[in-house]
Amino acid sequence: MFAFIPVLALLAGPVFAQDSSTASNGTASTVQIEGLEANFKQAQLVPQLLSSFDPEAILSVSFSGQAIATGDKLDATAVASSPEISVSPAADETLDAGALYTLLMADANAVGTDQNVTEQTRHWLVNGVSLSQGSQAPYAVNYTGATTITDYAGPGPFEGTGSHRYVIALYEQGSDFAAPANLSTAGVALGTWFLSSYVSESKLGDLVSANYFQVENGVATSTAESTTAVDSTTLAGYASNTVASATSGANSQTVSASGSGTSASQTSAAASGASAASSAAASAAATSAASGAGKNGVVYGMIVGAVGVVGAVIGAAL
Ligand SMILES: *[C@@H]1O[C@H](CO)[C@@H](O)[C@H](O)[C@H]1NC(C)=O
Ligand SMILES: *[C@@H]1O[C@H](CO)[C@@H](O)[C@H](O)[C@H]1NC(C)=O
Ligand SMILES: *[C@@H]1O[C@H](CO)[C@@H](O)[C@H](O)[C@H]1NC(C)=O
Ligand SMILES: *[C@@H]1O[C@H](CO)[C@@H](O)[C@H](O)[C@H]1NC(C)=O
Repeated sequence: MFAFIPVLALLAGPVFAQDSSTASNGTASTVQIEGLEANFKQAQLVPQLLSSFDPEAILSVSFSGQAIATGDKLDATAVASSPEISVSPAADETLDAGALYTLLMADANAVGTDQNVTEQTRHWLVNGVSLSQGSQAPYAVNYTGATTITDYAGPGPFEGTGSHRYVIALYEQGSDFAAPANLSTAGVALGTWFLSSYVSESKLGDLVSANYFQVENGVATSTAESTTAVDSTTLAGYASNTVASATSGANSQTVSASGSGTSASQTSAAASGASAASSAAASAAATSAASGAGKNGVVYGMIVGAVGVVGAVIGAAL
């Protein structure tokens, strides 16, 4: 009865791949920073999960040496092991060499999930990382002396719950930071939480940067709101940059990622024109269906937490 929905393919498809070439000294361009912001808005992660997002850097996420493009749809097997993370500050930002940060990954479920009502699954939480600031960016995350509260647990969304958005975020961890008692020691299993509550209660500082990818299991039985692609030439930073690869969303998405993720991105880019017309009609139904999907995701997280099974094992199995 929801006229079969090509919109499914769209699920928060990336606005456009970020230009993968940083400045020769490794800093991020204005277009890269604005593209990241635009992608988070388009995917409704802003303001739903993050009330605002003003990145000071680009967060590069690579699985087995393959860098993702923001919003890539990836296969669960490709993201089963923890990614390598590095940071390229914007050209006009300087990151404090001695500072500590918190690195985490949260499942924001499908587009349309009310993040105020549905908790996010905590897939990774590391306090006290630093950045290996060599002579030039990007700077690798340095885990020496850090505390891994929750080990990386690869995505394992329930079948049919839509395309889940996995957000990896790096927060400044100032001297005010105080881990909540039940998230202060290593080895806390994957579970659910409200990311925004954790950030405010533990007094984390600024969100330095974030990135996200999507994983879907099986054929969705619900749909999510489709979104409209942002034309990067309308971004303020575009005029000052002549970045060819950022001018066309569809064409620039072959940049990276493993086979299945890349083809999924291309599919959604190609589908965007065709499905735009049907998206408005589908979106109202989609919102309620998608929040149902989100609740299933929470149930999954709670089951894993309650059984106390190592999340990574379950994540890989699903
Ligand atoms: C890096 O290069 C960019 C662009 O050329 C420049 O604006 C920025 O100041 C440079 N940053 C450093 C730390 O050298
Ligand atoms: C979520 O809660 C925040 C803070 O109370 C509020 O500003 C925001 O509008 C809420 N979002 C939704 C979708 O209800
Ligand atoms: C990583 O952090 C440790 C502890 O602060 C430090 O001793 C080490 O030099 C750092 N490594 C790099 C490559 O920056
Ligand atoms: C930690 O305790 C708070 C209440 O103090 C609770 O809301 C939260 O769900 C707990 N978190 C975990 C991961 O157990």
